[in-house]
Amino acid sequence: RPADIPVLTIDGPTASGKGTLSACVADRLGYHTLDSGSLYRVTALAARRAGVAATDEAGLAAIARSMALRFEGVRVLLAGEDVSDDLRDEAVGTMASQISAWPAVRAALFDLQCGFRQLPGLVADGRDMGTVIFPDARLKIFLTATAAARAERRLNQLISKGIPASLEDLRADLEARDERDRTRATAPLKPAEDALLLDNSQLGIEASMQQVVVWWNARQPFEVT
Ligand code: DC
Repeated sequence: RPADIPVLTIDGPTASGKGTLSACVADRLGYHTLDSGSLYRVTALAARRAGVAATDEAGLAAIARSMALRFEGVRVLLAGEDVSDDLRDEAVGTMASQISAWPAVRAALFDLQCGFRQLPGLVADGRDMGTVIFPDARLKIFLTATAAARAERRLNQLISKGIPASLEDLRADLEARDERDRTRATAPLKPAEDALLLDNSQLGIEASMQQVVVWWNARQPFEVT
């Protein structure tokens, strides 16, 4: 039964380091990962390519239901084409945030997300993993970091890829996206009631991972070493 398959959820705002932390924890536990943001991103990309506007709720939901998706490790293939790099584009992220406010789009992606729950277990990251998609998760983390820390990380990521960017623009953009994700009516970004808060403004990835593994072990009948 899917309910018997362990899930660990990591929700949090843009550029909080959810993706990196999820990948490290999943690697450590030998679990699968679900980067749910990539599903909203690929829906946005597919819509853009099909000429469907961010305001067309029914059109977007139809795209979300019918996209020809394949996952190969961390790569995402849309109609056979590896679009993983296109998904990281800021414009695609902004459109993803806009379209994710539509209830029909969220509903269209629901079953796809539940399908990632497979043995031996899943680490799922996003905005509503602990609140909506996997409310019965064994451990829920809400990851935060100050806007300044997140903007700086995003800047370093872009610089390392040779993409010029301004710290102020990045910070303004991620604060706008946080605001939209937090205030939407359907599945807003907020900690699940039973989530543990982890602020990684001052924590490196290794220390963050250790903390999550300690919490995870505390919920197991056995130790993961
Ligand atoms: O985590 P991310 O930046 O890749 O997500 C892109 C957008 O997708 C984000 O601004 C809001 C939306 N999203 C969502 O609504 N629910 C999720 N579980 C994950 C992402």
